[in-house]
Amino acid sequence: LSGVDCLLFEDAAAVAEAAAEWILEQARRAIAARGAFRIVLAGGTTPLMAYRRLAQAQSADWSAWHVYHGDERCLPADDAERNSRAADQAWLGRVSIPPRQIHVIPAELGPEAAALDYQQPVAAALPFDLVLLGMGEDGHTASLFPDRPLPSAEQEDTLVMPVQDAPKPPPERVSLTPRALCASREILLLITGAAKHAALVRWQAGESLPAACIARAGNTTVLLDRAAAG
Ligand code: 6PG
Repeated sequence: LSGVDCLLFEDAAAVAEAAAEWILEQARRAIAARGAFRIVLAGGTTPLMAYRRLAQAQSADWSAWHVYHGDERCLPADDAERNSRAADQAWLGRVSIPPRQIHVIPAELGPEAAALDYQQPVAAALPFDLVLLGMGEDGHTASLFPDRPLPSAEQEDTLVMPVQDAPKPPPERVSLTPRALCASREILLLITGAAKHAALVRWQAGESLPAACIARAGNTTVLLDRAAAG
């Protein structure tokens, strides 16, 4: 893929295994160097297999992990479609990360209030050590969708933004902005499944899809499987 490092794997399970190993290695390095590991989680289904593998990790020093979310759907906190709930069930609820170090986006407040509320925790965390991202079939990442407005130049210190009309349900979301997502030492973008191939073709053809723009702007490694690569 133009402009980013890409690693190709046989299938989604292999991508998940590689992602979990990569995340644990980045954590070891960050904790050794700075005493903490600040990671931003991706939503959706792709990362869940990696989260389940992380829940099995024996040697991780969970007490030094600080977890954030790259985006969240504006649904009740206990809704099965909430990214924070999925991550909690697959991984976070099974390991001993101190609860005050897990920063959930209060998306039940609605897009505007939640975005305002989450600015400060994100500002205090920058730079992240690792931002984990997925990509939608239309090339979106986090809740940054093609042909949707981004913060204007004068709002350039905006780190979290409300999303009102997302094409992927639910329409109301909260998302870290490109500036926040790229304020990270590493970005790991997971792309698996044949449904993502068309977006990869558009990316390769030079279309400025949100996932492509973020990947090029950040220090990004893409892990993809054969089905997505086509
Ligand atoms: C979300 C995610 C979104 C996701 C992509 C890919 O809230 O939906 O944050 O950006 O990463 O839509 O989703 P899948 O991994 O389910 O294909």
